[in-house]
Amino acid sequence: MTAVTEHPTSVKSTTDPTVHVQDLHVRFASSRGEVTAVEHIDLTVAPGEFVTIAGPSGCGKSTLLKVISGLTKPSRGVVELNGAPVTGPRQDIGYVFQRAALLEWRDVEGNILIQAEMRGMPRAKARERAAELIEMTGLSGFEKALPHELSGGMQQRVSLCRALLHEPQVLLMDEPFGALDALTRERMNVELRRIWESTGTTVMLVTHSVPEAVYLADRVVVMSPRPGRVLEVLDVDLPRHRVYGDTMASPVFQELTTHVRSLLRTTGEAD
Ligand SMILES: Nc1ncnc2c1ncn2[C@@H]1O[C@H](COP(=O)(O)OP(=O)(O)OP(=O)(O)O)[C@@H](O)[C@H]1O
Ligand SMILES: [Mg+2]
Repeated sequence: MTAVTEHPTSVKSTTDPTVHVQDLHVRFASSRGEVTAVEHIDLTVAPGEFVTIAGPSGCGKSTLLKVISGLTKPSRGVVELNGAPVTGPRQDIGYVFQRAALLEWRDVEGNILIQAEMRGMPRAKARERAAELIEMTGLSGFEKALPHELSGGMQQRVSLCRALLHEPQVLLMDEPFGALDALTRERMNVELRRIWESTGTTVMLVTHSVPEAVYLADRVVVMSPRPGRVLEVLDVDLPRHRVYGDTMASPVFQELTTHVRSLLRTTGEAD
């Protein structure tokens, strides 16, 4: 099935946020007819911001990330990265999929370096950066390990290193921790937040977990059921450096998660 393109438009942004989405509609055509995945989406993400997206299954969260990355064409509306329209797959983006999607026959380093091979990055520089990322994500000593020798959390960290190898300005993450157990997921949340703090990358992350959405974000976007619209955008007024336990226990966190849950409950979805 392919996206139906209608009236592609391009409007120059005056403020040049990292991500600018305006009046986005995405419809898919199929033999069963048309499906409107998202409609009237307006969203702006500032440079270095961490935005999480929550919403019921099928409301178009993955579609939104794919449109921003240039993998799916909008049917209507504006999608810009750094003030320029997105017209096709972008090199300056890192994408982390729900499953780690590692090559079983390649070791940790080899899986991370695929990114460099696909982009024709100089090998020495790529290896140096891979070593830094391996260290940063606590994978040191496992450079030569194969995916089946790693835990699920470690595999996801390899996937994260691969997405960060080319130092993308924007990191799009589609339920990256959905397959992990609760404890590993918490650890990954803390690690991701730390990596984000030290790299300054702009992150958009889709999640079904309300605590994850609030803990990680500067702002949480809550979407309606399909056709997905933005129901509400919440500012997360928590310190930039977040200690996991303290954050969970804070009144601001409690209020925000309660509010996000109540919004999702109206959509029939809450964890
Ligand atoms: N390539 C495609 N062709 C046809 N329909 C599609 C395509 N991609 C997505 N859709 C439809 O668009 C809607 C939104 O899908 P999408 O994957 O964006 O939802 P989602 O919010 O990510 O859901 P989930 O939380 O289950 O991952 C769904 O109805 C889906 O069937
Ligand atoms: Mg999805």
